[in-house]
Amino acid sequence: MLLLLTFFLYNIFGGIIMSCVNVVLGAFYGDEGKGKIIDYLSSNARYAVRFSGGNNAGHTILVNGKKFAFHLLPSGILNKNIKAILSNGVVIDPKVLLEEINNLKNNGYPVDNLYISEKAHVIMPYHIMMDSLLEDARGDNKIGTTKRGIGPTYCDKYERCGIRMEDFIGKNFKNLLKINIKNKNVILKAYGYDELDFESIYKEYSKYAKKLKKYVTDTTTMLHQAIKNNENILCEGAQATLLDIDFGSYPYVTSSNPTIGGVLTGTGIGAKYINEVIGVIKAYSSRVGEGPYVTEENNEIGDMIRELGHEYGTTTKRPRRCGWLDVPALNYAVMINGLTSIAMNHLDTIGKLNKIKLCVAYKYKGKMIKDFTTNMDILKNSTPIYEEFSGNFGDLSKCKTYDELPINAKKFLERIEELTNTPIKYIGVGADRENIIVR
Ligand code: GDP
Ligand code: IMO
Ligand code: MG
Repeated sequence: MLLLLTFFLYNIFGGIIMSCVNVVLGAFYGDEGKGKIIDYLSSNARYAVRFSGGNNAGHTILVNGKKFAFHLLPSGILNKNIKAILSNGVVIDPKVLLEEINNLKNNGYPVDNLYISEKAHVIMPYHIMMDSLLEDARGDNKIGTTKRGIGPTYCDKYERCGIRMEDFIGKNFKNLLKINIKNKNVILKAYGYDELDFESIYKEYSKYAKKLKKYVTDTTTMLHQAIKNNENILCEGAQATLLDIDFGSYPYVTSSNPTIGGVLTGTGIGAKYINEVIGVIKAYSSRVGEGPYVTEENNEIGDMIRELGHEYGTTTKRPRRCGWLDVPALNYAVMINGLTSIAMNHLDTIGKLNKIKLCVAYKYKGKMIKDFTTNMDILKNSTPIYEEFSGNFGDLSKCKTYDELPINAKKFLERIEELTNTPIKYIGVGADRENIIVR
């Protein structure tokens, strides 16, 4: 009896404690509109945490027609009560971060609510050079990186020669930088690049370190204190499932884990505290950079989707490759991340077309495949099997509830729910903060 009572109490109180960490992740190849969903959800949170990636991300938020683009700062920062955290899994370009902070200050936000993990690694100029150099060396096999130095910074992290925030703002910086520049110059020289000058970099980056010092702290302890206080934490994903270094379409991926595992290693929050895991998709799909993309429409349909959805990179301004929504890939994201719900953006955009396609399976060597795989041969040589839906949804911008959506939009959404066995809880019907339906 006592055992049973303990079990019930544990579940009740354990449940309460567990309910405070929610996660938003990209479910496809990035740019699904995570920024908008994070901005919406962070109004109910006390902490917004970027846990992986760096300024390869570009998250757009539209507030009453005013556009904000975040690359490093957590997208939740626009909400007044938020404590914005860049946790240990993030890689930080100090120059870009300071520009972003200044930009936000110029827009009337004081940015006195930012906390940076002492363990986060710093992107240095040689990382950015190496990113370009390695891409050039790949020739036709290039990945199409954002050339922001992300991959080389994570390489140094795992090589254990990286510069962490605590080193950057501390006494170790000079020595670490000297060793790193000496080693990197060997490579730069071998590839015919100009060697880097230690003194000038040290001088410039010491200034950045001085400015950022006040934000640096132990964010893991901070987050655990928040959990003890039962405060809501929103972990905000950058990049996406199919760009994951382990679970994505390797080698056409980024160099971190934007999937659920990255939340744990990138923050120090334990799995038992995580409650909702929301996967963000668009009603169609897009990809920037190289790599396979089964449902791509590399033709006038893709061009039309790109123009209707304004699909040009927030970070690199590159035109995004566009195509239809891919259910096998979405089911993979549901599985890998344990998605509890889906947020779907751009229902308004897809609703402008007469006919909408939804990929429900792949055809590979004459066989039907329903389970997504990252096997490069299969991804490159599969063709999509589609179901077709009627479009012409009309103007959705005034829709505030699910009931107000036209029947054809509901048919499309409900078929996706059926195929993924996952509820679509948030629906984007326009770019602005207000254009969201919550079920
Ligand atoms: P993120 O990287 O996942 O945050 O996405 P991006 O910001 O890179 O790209 C998403 C784009 O879609 C941005 O331009 C958003 O303003 C826009 N957007 C987001 N949701 C919607 C929506 O429901 N409808 C429309 N029309 N635009 C949206
Ligand atoms: P958000 O957070 C879309 C892609 C790049 C490239 C690959 C590797 O805005 O969704 P990297 O510079 O990370 O080494 O590039 O990953 N990529 C993204 N694509 N959205 C992103 O972020 C991306 N971040 C990286 O285009 O193909
Ligand atoms: Mg983006």
